Formats: sequence, C-alpha cells, structure tokens
Amino acid sequence: MSKIILTGDRPTGPLHIGHYAGSIRRRVELQNSGEYDKIYIMIADAQALTDNAENPEKVRQNIIEVALDYLSCGLDPEKSTLLIQSQIPELCELSFYYMNLVTVSRLQRNPTVKSEIQMRNFEASIPVGFFTYPISQAADITAFGATTVPVGEDQLPMIEQTKEIVRKFNSVYGDTLVEPDALLSANKSCLRLPGTDGKAKMSKSLHNCIYLSDSEEEVRKKVMSMFTDPNHLQVSDPGKVEGNPVFIYLEAFCRDELFAEYLPEYANLEELKAHYTRGGLGDVKVKKFLNNVLQEELAPIRSRRKTWETDIPAVYDILRKGSLAARQAAAKTLADVKESMKINYFDDRALIDQQTLKYREQK
Ligand code: TRP
Repeated sequence: MSKIILTGDRPTGPLHIGHYAGSIRRRVELQNSGEYDKIYIMIADAQALTDNAENPEKVRQNIIEVALDYLSCGLDPEKSTLLIQSQIPELCELSFYYMNLVTVSRLQRNPTVKSEIQMRNFEASIPVGFFTYPISQAADITAFGATTVPVGEDQLPMIEQTKEIVRKFNSVYGDTLVEPDALLSANKSCLRLPGTDGKAKMSKSLHNCIYLSDSEEEVRKKVMSMFTDPNHLQVSDPGKVEGNPVFIYLEAFCRDELFAEYLPEYANLEELKAHYTRGGLGDVKVKKFLNNVLQEELAPIRSRRKTWETDIPAVYDILRKGSLAARQAAAKTLADVKESMKINYFDDRALIDQQTLKYREQK
C-alpha cells in the first residue's frame, strides 16, 4: 500500500512556533525523507469558516500568510502538494455521506470540539457547520487515502473520529476507505508549546505567540519579556523548570551544538536546568540563550520568506496547481465511495441490465 500524508492548518492567522514545533518541522522532515509516495498539505479555509462565517476576509487574507509560512519552512511544491480545501468540492460530497455514519452524541463527546465550543462561548448557539467539522476533517483525510496524519496532540480526537468513520463505512459498504494513523512529535515539549505568557496554548487572541514571520527584533523582545518561574525573584533563588515556558521552548528547539556556540559554560540543557534548579542562574541569561536558539531556527525561514514575498503570484499559482492535482485524487475516492454506496447509477451497466430484465419479465 502506498504511504500518503495529509495534514493541514486553518488560515486564521500567520503560523507560530507552536505550529512549527508541533507539526510543520516534522512535515518537512517527512517530505525530505523520501519515504512517502504523496504528501498533501491543506490550507483548511472551509474549516476556518465554520467558526468565522462572519469574517471571510480574515480567512481570505490568511491563505497567503499560511502558504508563505509553509514555503519558508521548506515545504517544497515539487515534493508536496499544497492545496486549498474549498477548491475541492468533492470534500463536501464525501462529508455529506459520512454524516449518516456519525451520531450527534458522538460529536458532542469529541474532546476537541468540546473544548473549542467552550473557548468560543458557543454553548447555546453552536453553528451546525462547526459542530460537524470533525466529519469534514474525516473527508479531508480519507479523500486522499492518507495513511499518515502528522498533527499536534490537540488533533488526536479528530483522527480517532476519522478512524471510526472509516471502519463504519467499510463495514457497511465494503472495504473502500483507508484508515489513517496520527503521527505525533516524539519530543514531548513539542506537542503543545505554551504561550510566552505561560498560558497553556499559544493563541492569536491572547497575544502570546511568536510568529514564524516575526522580525529578529520582535522575536528578541518577546523572548526577553517571557513569563518564567514567578517565584524565581533573585538570581540566587532556586528556580523551577517544570511548566516554565523558557525551558519548554529550549526543550523544543535547543541542540547541544548551540551551547558550544552561545553558552559554552554548559554542555547541554540538563546542565543548564540543574543550575537553574539549584539557584544562581538568572532568567536574563537563559532568555538570551533562548533568543539565540530561536534566531538560529528562524533565520533561514525568515530569509526564504523574504524571497517568496517578492513573487506572490507564483505562490498563488502553486496553490492553484496543487488544488487542481488534489481535486483529481479526491474525485477518484469519491467515485469509489459512490460505487460502494451504490449511487453510481449511470456507470453501472449491471443495474441497467437488471432493471431491463425485470421489466421485460413483468410483461
Ligand atoms: N483541524 C486542523 C487544525 O485546526 C486543520 C485541519 C483541517 C486538518 N483538515 C485537516 C489537520 C486534516 C489534519 C488533517 O489545525
């Protein structure tokens, strides 16, 4: 069986280092591993509209932001198909049929949906489209026959829901769809980076994100004003590394070579942590190191972005071509689905013959 990746992001803002650590960096590695037959990366604008229906301009503006972020991180349109969800109408058709296989109570129990409903204060007035987006996400994944879905931890319930839909579909209509597996980052700190303010999640509305498109100076400022251990008041005080966002970011991004270059008193992160925990190590020193670590990671991304920014029409062209190619793949799956569901009347010679015979016999 071929190995196929599908994953994507909602275009509701530029991508931040949480997206990068949790998923994008991994996608680039997977792309360059050469182990996958096909890689689809989706800008999920239709999904973004499920909770931004009144704000289409926001979604429209952020398509290019996300595309530029992808390209600058090293996603290569020669190796990966970049597509825009709304340009693949087959996905809507698939969703419509999958809806028959999912119960309302199952959707209500989806932990991601549950927490998003809370976050958006939707409790009393959940848009139907939003409520059912896990079904549409199952369509995204299955339309391309994805075997592997590299995502952040928050998306696991979506993959679980997709697996259930696939099993149900295949048991009712016969083996048709491919059951995908999630692929999580092996580095625990990457699974979900906290915000620079120490809150559990980076979120545009909380103003606690470091964006991939931030300038060197913006990154430095954000790092230097990061939340740390609130009880670490004096340099001599013992500090806590658990739950301390500065150390979580270091876990996600630092490499031993970077100690040799920027902080040679320590061989590795373990030594730095031990000193912080013991006391005698100031936040400023750790933050300056984190800034260097992040700048190392972000500099090449920033410079590739600058280049792509000079040719925006080329970026739209990549998305247009990618969407076209993706549409062909999705159309193939939709045809298989319709055949399995026996709603392929006009391609089904046997059906026409059977009906012909039936009416001939009645005479
Ligand atoms: N739900 C994902 C997010 O919020 C975006 C997404 C849409 C996605 N379709 C997908 C992710 C399919 C993986 C596979 O980031």
